[in-house]
Amino acid sequence: MREQLDGAGGLRHLITLEGLHREVLSGLLDRAEKYRRLPGQPAYEGRELAGFTVANLFFEPSTRTRASFDLAGRRLGAHVLSLDPHGSSRAKGETMLDTIYTLEAMNTDVFVIRDSEAGIPEFLIDHVAPHVSVISAGEAHLSHPTQGLLDALTIRMHKRRFAGLKLAIVGDIKHSRVARSTAHAVMTLGTSDVRLVAPEGLLPAETEFRGAHRCTGIEEGIAGADVVIMLRIQRERMAHGAALDEAAYFREFGLDAQRLKLASPDALVMHPGPMNRGVEISSEVADGPRSVIREQVNNGVAVRMAVLASIAATLTRHRKPL
Ligand code: NCD
Repeated sequence: MREQLDGAGGLRHLITLEGLHREVLSGLLDRAEKYRRLPGQPAYEGRELAGFTVANLFFEPSTRTRASFDLAGRRLGAHVLSLDPHGSSRAKGETMLDTIYTLEAMNTDVFVIRDSEAGIPEFLIDHVAPHVSVISAGEAHLSHPTQGLLDALTIRMHKRRFAGLKLAIVGDIKHSRVARSTAHAVMTLGTSDVRLVAPEGLLPAETEFRGAHRCTGIEEGIAGADVVIMLRIQRERMAHGAALDEAAYFREFGLDAQRLKLASPDALVMHPGPMNRGVEISSEVADGPRSVIREQVNNGVAVRMAVLASIAATLTRHRKPL
């Protein structure tokens, strides 16, 4: 894994939460809290990214992540370029590198990349100029660091602690970069009771998620949980996904109001979106009093502002003088 901090300990790239210490994560969450504004309040407007150009390169579809990176950059004064690149899947690294060099020549400072192929963000880190940063907005099934941070922020705002929490992640964990990054975030921040709840075929390999418990029954998995994170079945990452019986899945693993009673009475219900109502979660729960799903979206902008501002502060030190 590449170093994501510079020599002075400043955040330079963000492609995974792996290897980042608790202090770095907490620092980003503290900063995000400062940027956070409730819907209806005036959005935070700052100049932390004045003179910076951020390019969003999303090679996979995205609504909320892309919109929130876009808004985060603009609200801090950056020029934001959102491209719709069409990468040919083979030699994608090469064609992507041409795009990167072209945009670097136009003084782009930060690249926000989403791609279905593993390894692209790391490859780019090895090739960008010393005054340029790479942020992953989702790498294959492996990593989605800003989602992990926004989930952690949402939990912290409600629970004020990570130690002692019982957290259940339910659904298609095997294919979920959100599960990987969120589990990483909360475990680094001090949560030790993390339960992975899924049918056998959707559990990750035994070698992954060190320290988490595996569970193939939702009742057992969410019993007494303080936080229940529901995940989408990611058909696009499955060979035979289309064959899924949605009604049967909902019966066995869906979260409805009845099941939610098994969790702690003040449990938070979370979902990274997009939701499949009636497949992994009922509308009653998704829109119910325990749901913080829209707060997650709100926190997503704040967290991306915090990441961009931290990276801009680091890049300032690496820029060439006029
Ligand atoms: C997730 C993603 O793209 O990884 N969505 C998101 O970023 N909010 C989860 C998903 O696609 O199911």
